Formats: sequence, structure tokens, C-alpha cells
Amino acid sequence: MTDVDGNQLLDFSGGLGCQLVGYSHPKVVEAVQRQAAKVSHTDFSVIPYEPFVELAERLVALTGAGERKVALFNSGAEAVENAVKFARASTGRPAILCFEGGFHGRTLLAMTLTSRHHPYKAGFGPFASEVYRLPYPYPYRSAHPDDAGRIALEAIDGAFVAAVDPDSVAAAIVEPVQGEGGFVVPTPEFLQGLAERCRRHGILLIADEVQSGCGRTGAFLASEHFGFEPDLVLLAKALASGYPLSAVVGRADVMDAPGPSAIGGTYVGNPVACVAANAVLQVIEEEGLIERAEQVGKSIRTRWEQVAQHVAQIGDIRGVGAMIGVEMVTSRETKEPNADYLGNVIRGAMQRGVISVSCGLYHNVLRHLVPLVISDAELEEGLDVLSEAAVAAAARP
Ligand SMILES: Cc1ncc(COP(=O)(O)O)c(C=O)c1O
Repeated sequence: MTDVDGNQLLDFSGGLGCQLVGYSHPKVVEAVQRQAAKVSHTDFSVIPYEPFVELAERLVALTGAGERKVALFNSGAEAVENAVKFARASTGRPAILCFEGGFHGRTLLAMTLTSRHHPYKAGFGPFASEVYRLPYPYPYRSAHPDDAGRIALEAIDGAFVAAVDPDSVAAAIVEPVQGEGGFVVPTPEFLQGLAERCRRHGILLIADEVQSGCGRTGAFLASEHFGFEPDLVLLAKALASGYPLSAVVGRADVMDAPGPSAIGGTYVGNPVACVAANAVLQVIEEEGLIERAEQVGKSIRTRWEQVAQHVAQIGDIRGVGAMIGVEMVTSRETKEPNADYLGNVIRGAMQRGVISVSCGLYHNVLRHLVPLVISDAELEEGLDVLSEAAVAAAARP
């Protein structure tokens, strides 16, 4: 990034996760320019076009087995809303399960499914009905880190007795690795146990991979790391390099459940956004970015482990692939969240030329959403800056 004064900065927020293939990748730019000159909109339901079909075929091939279909939308929140509609139409049931720390967007239902009240929900009620929130394993903040998954599964079993009849639940929506919630990684036991309970009760499982998907974790879907197969997968953010586009990929029988014209929207699957997404998926494959995620993540993790030897405010370093979060605390004994310290680190890094962002229920987790096309030299330079800022902020009275 070059700012208005000509200063050059490295963006470690990667356009909040959208620029996985980097800003203005030449292949994306070329595809967008060509499509914009050809046709920018028809409405796919009136005049269908090839880039939409090509993208749907690519997404089906990338996201699992079995007969599946794709619906395209404009934003992550819209994918969430429509996934719930598919699930309700398919099961004929009203209720939805969601999880503490989850973030699913800002529209009415997506906001209801989102966990944190400030700043996302406070003052915006009443919320949508038939939403039941359950604990999500957060090993670092659990009294029993090794058992956090089992404890969360017991909470689901308890809720099926005390809070909601499982036979009235249409779907559970879960982030396989939480994004806004603090890059929290659950135990595989939890996601597999959730999937097993969903199967047992005829509940559809929706994986919200808006932030974790498209290769950032070292697999196209983060779900793959945990050995569970969702019925519906949601993608957005990195999918089209920032052009407004999201996708629901799901079991064909579920996707076919709503009647004609029940699901859609004027702009959904815009052709310019579709060609951008096709180019992004091609770049991810050609440039080996899924494999690159592992290397990028390893460098980030190793660097923060070194910094943690000198900086007592670093409480936890966690993540999958390149999706690494660093949780800041006042002391490692009390684990009291330290958002002020993280704020100083982020400001210090910005003054030194690196843009980074926080996340977490307590705003105290530094998240890395580095474009995976980053060179080793740029990555090390950015990490030098972040570690300098972390050490300087720790030295402040
Ligand atoms: C996991 C997850 N779901 C849904 C959303 C909402 O996406 P959008 O902002 O495009 O509506 C986000 C955005 O950060 C997200 O991280």
C-alpha cells in the first residue's frame, strides 16, 4: 500500500482476509477488465452466462464429494441468511444452533447468530427467533484445555434436553476455526462430535468458511483439517479478491428444496465478480498457495514464539496454516485479556509501516491475514516490524 504521503506499508490484514492472492493480481485484473468490457450484468435467472457455471463447477470440485450444487450471493452475511433458508426448506424445521464467539455478519439473522454484543448487536434488537447459542471450545480459556471439546459436546447434549428439541432444529452453523471470535481452534473431537450429533438428529451442518476458506489454513477448507464433512459450506472474502461475491455449496437435495425464485437476488453471481473468482481459484492452484499457507504460518508462529520469550503479554499463539492469532494478556497466570497492549502494538506497527488488525471476544488477539503471495523477504520484514512494536509496547510504563 502507498498512502497519500507516499509512505509504503505492508498490509498484514490483507484487505481483511479478501486479498489472499494479493492486491490487483495481474490475472484477476485482466479477467475483470475483459469481462467489464463484455458485459457487467444480465441477471443470471434471465440470461445465464458461462463464468457463473464455470465457478460453480470449480467450487463443487474443490469442496468435497457427493452430488452438490452452488448458489452465489454478494456477501458473507447473505450466504449465511440463504444457507439457513435452504436448511429450513429442506428439513421443514425452524431452529438454528450457533456458537459462542461465532461471527456470521451484520444482517438481522446473521447478526442474531453472531455472538458478541458490542459492537455488533447492542441497540439493534429485537433479534430473529429460534436461534440457540451453545459453548464453543476455547482451549486457552478453558479450565480444562484438553477436555474443552468434550465439555462443549456435553453442553449440546444438555441443550437438547433443556433448551431445544433436536427434532425441531434445521441446522447448526459453525466456524471450523473462529475468525472474528479470536482465531480460536476447536479440538477435532468437537467438530466430529457435532457432526455425529447432527447426523443422529437429522440436523444439517453448515460450515461458515467465509474467513477460514479458500486455502488460508493450508487446505481449501479448514473443515478438512478436522475430518468432518459439512452439508453446506459458505465461502466469501478471499473467493473473489474483494469483488462482492459469496457462495453456498451444498448437498443437491438440500439446495433444491426451496421452490423456484425462492432464493436469489438481482446482483447475485455478478459476472465480473465470477471471473475474478475463477481467476483467484486458478492463481491459488497455479502458484501453490495452499502449500504456501503452511510455510507462511510456520514463519509467523516461529517468530511470535521467539518474541514470547521476551514479552510476557503474549499469552497464546495458535492457528491453522497461515491463519495465526496471538492472544495478548496482562499476565500469563491470570490470562486477563489485554486489549490496551494489543492496541499499542498495532499502532506501533502502523507507525513503522505494517497494517495489522485485532479480533477476539475481548479485542485482544492479533490476527494475521497475510496475502499468501507475500515473498519471504516481505514476510520477514513485516514480522520484524511487528516484533519491534511488541517489544516497544511491552517496555512502556
Ligand atoms: C466467518 C464469517 N462469516 C460471515 C461474515 C460476514 O461476511 P460479510 O461481511 O461479507 O457479510 C464474516 C465477515 O467477517 C465472517 O468472518
